This record gives sequence, C-alpha cells and structure tokens, in this order.
Amino acid sequence: MEVIALILAAGQGTRMRSGLPKVLHRIGGLCLLEHVYRLAAALEVRETVIVYGHGGEQALSALGHLPATWIEQKERRGTGHAVMQAVDRIGDDSTVLVLYGDVPLLRRETVETLLHHAGESSLGLLTVELDNPTGYGRIIRDASGRVLRIVEEKDATPEERAVREVNTGILAVEGAPLKRWLKALRNDNAQGEYYLTDIVAMAVAEGYFIDATHPTSPDEVLGVNDRRQLAELERIYQVHQARALMERGVTLRDPARFDLRGEIVELGRDVEIDVNVILEGRIALGDEARIGPNVYLKDTVIGPGVAVLANSVIEGAVIGAGSRVGPFARLRPESVLAEGVHIGNFVEVKQSDIAVGSKVNHLSYIGDASIGRGVNVGAGTITCNYDGVAKHRTIIEDGAFIGSDTQLVAPVRVGRNATIGAGSTITRDTPEDCLTLSRARQLSVEGWKRPEKARKESCAE
Ligand code: UD1
Ligand code: CA
Repeated sequence: MEVIALILAAGQGTRMRSGLPKVLHRIGGLCLLEHVYRLAAALEVRETVIVYGHGGEQALSALGHLPATWIEQKERRGTGHAVMQAVDRIGDDSTVLVLYGDVPLLRRETVETLLHHAGESSLGLLTVELDNPTGYGRIIRDASGRVLRIVEEKDATPEERAVREVNTGILAVEGAPLKRWLKALRNDNAQGEYYLTDIVAMAVAEGYFIDATHPTSPDEVLGVNDRRQLAELERIYQVHQARALMERGVTLRDPARFDLRGEIVELGRDVEIDVNVILEGRIALGDEARIGPNVYLKDTVIGPGVAVLANSVIEGAVIGAGSRVGPFARLRPESVLAEGVHIGNFVEVKQSDIAVGSKVNHLSYIGDASIGRGVNVGAGTITCNYDGVAKHRTIIEDGAFIGSDTQLVAPVRVGRNATIGAGSTITRDTPEDCLTLSRARQLSVEGWKRPEKARKESCAE
C-alpha cells in the first residue's frame, strides 16, 4: 500500500492572536506541524504533502528543510478545496491519509489502524464521542448503525446536533475515488465552503462502507485553536512523556512538574529527576545521574553518577562521570568536565575543559580555559578572557592551586603544581612548583589614630 499523507495546514489561526502561523506554535519544543510531519514520517509514507496558506512563507522558511511537498492554497475555501490543491500528487492506486497540521498528539497506532480500514470499497474515518460536540461535524448513522454522511454543525438540524459522535477530520481513502468525489464537491452550504466531509455521502451512494475507527484516547485528536488549548495540549503531551520515561526506569519526583522539550537520546539506569526540571534539545543521562530541583538542561551529556544540584543552568556541556555541579551553577556551551569534577555555587564556566578531579567550588568565572587534573581553583577566581576585542585562553596545568580572589589575565599559563597566592592579579605565565603572588605587602602603621567625630555640644543646659 502506497500512502500519501496530506497535511492540511492552511488555516488562519486567528484565535491564536499571533504574528506566527498557528502550525509554528510549539508543543514539547516542536512545532505543531512538525509533530504531524513526524507521524507521517514514522508511517513511512511515500510522500508528505503540506497544504499551507496564511503566513505560509514563515512556515516554509522554518520547516522547508523537511522532505515534503509544499503546496499553497491561496484562498481558504474549505477542507475539500485544500485537498483539491494536492490532486496532482495523488496517484490512483495510492491511499490518501488526511491529517491536520494543528492536531499534534495523534498516535501512530491509531493511524495504522485507520489505514487498514481504507480499501477498495471502504473509507477509513476517525471519529470520537464527545460530551460536548459543539463546533464539530456530526457523524450521521442509519438505524442499523451504518455511517451515512457527516453534517457540519452550521448545516445541522437540532436532532443532528444532538449526536455526540463527531468527525475528527482524519481519514484514509483510495486515490481514484477521492479524485472523482473531489470533482463533484459543491459549496452550497451554510459556510459557502467545499467540505471534504461531503465525500462520505458520495462514497455511501457508490456502495462504499464507511469504517469508523476511534483513537485510543480522545486526547489524540484534540486540535489547537487558541493559547488555552495550546497549554492544555502541552500538559497532556508532557504527562505522556513523563509516563514514558518512568516506564523506561526513571524516577520522577513529580511527573506533573517535569518538562521535556526535546528528546533523551541516551538513558542509563536509576536516573532520578527532582521537581521543576526542564530538559531541552538532546539530552543524555548516564546511570544513576541525579538532577536536582529547578534545573535547566539543554543539549547536554550527563555522565554516570553525576549530581546536578538545585537551580543549575546547563547548556551545551559534557559532564564526566561522578562530577558534581551546583547548586546555582551555570555551564555554558562547550564546557567539558572530565570525571570527578566539582563545580560549586555561583560558578560560571564557558568553553573550557576541566580535567579529572579538579574543583571550582565558589563564585568564579572560568571562560576559554583549559584546566588540568587535580587543580583547585579558589573562591572568586576570574579568568579575564576578554580584552574588549578578542578572547584569550587561560591554561592551568595539573596540580595547580589558585588562591582565592585571583584574576588570571589571559593569555596566561599557570605551570604544573604552581601555587598562586590569594588576591593575585596574574598577567604573566607562572613557573611550575612555585608560589607566585602579586599583591602589595601588608604593612601596619604604628601610632596611627582613627579619626573621631567632633562631640556635639549638649544644648539641654
Ligand atoms: C473540520 C471538519 C469537521 C470536523 C473538524 C474537526 C470539514 C468541512 N469539517 O471542521 O467535520 O469535525 O474539522 O476539527 O472538513 N484547512 C485548510 N484549508 C481550508 C480550510 C481548512 O488547510 O480552506 C485546514 C485547517 O488548517 C485545519 C483543518 O483544515 O488544519 C480543519 O480546518 P478547520 O477550519 O479547523 O475545520 P472545520 O472546517 O471547522
Ligand atoms: Ca477546527
């Protein structure tokens, strides 16, 4: 079976009140349209056709890299009209799967079942029973329960409106009859639109069986029309992801306070994630990694046994086994920590390598640096990496000890096992195994008197 996925995405999305086309809004960090695209890709369809319209140039420039055929629907004249735009792409022997660009949570299994129900004499239709069917097309069945047609709410009689089974809009149908029916569509209805849904009555008239299937959960077919629905779908999506992670063996302290906006590309055993953690992009988590509360991680590799403590912000970093980062640490892109490194509170690291067992525990800035093994960087140490024009590197060799409140004015190298006295400003390379310090000698002035305020005269007497 050769499947062509048609993603309808020309809707205006007025109710989003946004400068962005609706399908570019995100759920779980991914555009609505990309969710639908990925579903089609997972089904290994032959071709994906995206029918775009309002603001489509923006969508094209954001998602044009996806291997899909983009077709513009210049005027928005209904779902039937949208499908007509793609008619040249539809082979007679192919099966056409109609998807909506603003329905992002549809599951692959559901669509696979739907596709099995489309055949030479049957049309697969995804329907769902809703407590409140307002706004949807209603599924009209005969006394024996056979689907006869779909009536849009605006065209429906009060009895028809009482029906709670609705059309999700998702359907699967063979190419040849679809093209025949599209030609016969008319727009003499309440909205003056070409309704794709009218093909159902045409199919029935030709003796087709309408095979209505249902999604596993009604959440799957929820669409996004406004920001409220966007937020609702985000939550549903996150709950699914949290469950999936727990099934993969992760301890989530509270699955309701967890957000994954990307994917976990590697996952070890017994990972623990505390509350309010946001994971973005591509994340790897090694065995027994522990992520503390309120941590933000983006595109980061967390090695086995690593502890990321509360309120740390980490982006584009690699953290070696058994390291400890935070609380309140910030690792910026290209920070590479080897095994057993400690990065403590209010420490910022950028584009730096820190080798095995080194420690930067308090209030420091390490930028454009290479730090060797077993180095201790004292509190308040700053790499002065920027001269206002260019960035320069600081190299600290194995075993060095940097006293607190040191400024390392780059480019500069601190030799192996060197010790830097606290409060030093280091502007030149320092030799191995020596104490180097650059601070004024301490002196005490004898006989010096602290100035005193003149006594106020009492005016009471
Ligand atoms: C449509 C169905 C309705 C169903 C509902 C489910 C028709 C006539 N009605 O309703 O039975 O219950 O979906 O949500 O099909 N689109 C275009 N071009 C257009 C019009 C729509 O690309 O000219 C796209 C939209 O971007 C959207 C989808 O088609 O992704 C559905 O459009 P929308 O206006 O939301 O659906 P309704 O017509 O209200
Ligand atoms: Ca709609």
